[in-house]
Amino acid sequence: MVKTTNSPDVILEVDNLHVSFTTHGGEVKAVRGVSFSLGKGETLAIVGESGCGKSVTARSVTRLLPEQSSKISQGSVRYKGRELTELSEKQLRELRGSEISMIFQDAMTALNPTISIGEQIMEGIIRHQKISRAEARKQATEMLGLVGISNPEMRLKQYLHEFSGGMRQRIMIAIAAVCKPSVLIADEPTTALDVTIQAQIIELFKMLQKKTGVSIIIITHDLGVVANMADRVNVMYAGKVVESGTVDELFYNPQHPYTKGLLASMPRLDTDKSLPLTPIAGTPPDLFAPPQGCAFAARCSYAMEVCGVYQPEQTAVSSGHSVACWLQDPRSQVVFQPSIQRNNMTALG
Ligand SMILES: Nc1ncnc2c1ncn2[C@@H]1O[C@H](COP(=O)(O)OP(=O)(O)O)[C@@H](O)[C@H]1O
Ligand code: SF4
Ligand SMILES: [Mg+2]
Repeated sequence: MVKTTNSPDVILEVDNLHVSFTTHGGEVKAVRGVSFSLGKGETLAIVGESGCGKSVTARSVTRLLPEQSSKISQGSVRYKGRELTELSEKQLRELRGSEISMIFQDAMTALNPTISIGEQIMEGIIRHQKISRAEARKQATEMLGLVGISNPEMRLKQYLHEFSGGMRQRIMIAIAAVCKPSVLIADEPTTALDVTIQAQIIELFKMLQKKTGVSIIIITHDLGVVANMADRVNVMYAGKVVESGTVDELFYNPQHPYTKGLLASMPRLDTDKSLPLTPIAGTPPDLFAPPQGCAFAARCSYAMEVCGVYQPEQTAVSSGHSVACWLQDPRSQVVFQPSIQRNNMTALG
């Protein structure tokens, strides 16, 4: 069932989000009307080719975007019923870490290599909880132990470069999770790691979720990660969600030609790495001047005339599964009766 604001289970709801950047080359329309909801204790995966707006969507939630050049031009982000797009930077700082935390791909750039990891974990605790250093150190030690770092008391004094890549990710997760946020947003947290370590990090997320009931948004390039930990998936293309559904629906009943292409082109944890992947021919459109109709039309072997003219809208495939593709839109049948084509095209606009 699709969860809505009325459902007490919904913790985060993004509605018709538009985000753009001002650059020397003009305005980049990075996110163009993204909507989704995240349930309590649920894991939502966001997948899609590089540049389709996954990170910008994720960063928009707590507005971790360049202040000068970015703009949320439209839409809303509601967390526990509270509108986040209207919060001041000070209010957002209070929210980040304590309510909604982010985990990034590369700990070396996301964290401070010149401050001991103990200080970095404790900093968040003290900022949000107003407790003594001794108590904060106790919590930091416990958290480091919980994320699987042995001898945590001693290791609190160390710096990032003294840890392996997998350990650094564990530390970033410890920092993100130590104040018990309700939402964790992980942006390709396992991309830079080898397969065994990736699997361990996924298990760590699952353990944390089981223990704390945290809701998770995970951005990933790996369908194995999706299969392993997500409940639902948003497939993004050119700044829009083109298909959304449960993991089973998306894997076994994909409807959008782009989703089908992705399934054939993305690596999986659980399949033979020697099997060839089939890349989707062509490249995503220019987000300075997105196409008038379906953004996938230039790469789609099913493209019809209507696809080049009108943007497809979300159509329900089944309960909780929707797709934005003219192939599934009942109106496209009408549009393609040549005698009434013109009138209906106008009506659709
Ligand atoms: N700070 C920025 N300034 C200008 N353009 C940006 C900025 N960040 C992202 N973009 C553009 O926004 C689009 C979406 O980027 P992003 O969300 O990072 O994609 P991905 O799906 O790979 O995470 C891309 O076209 C990217 O070039
Ligand atoms: S709307 Fe048309 S071009 Fe876009 S994916 Fe569907 S069939 Fe292909
Ligand atoms: Mg990204």
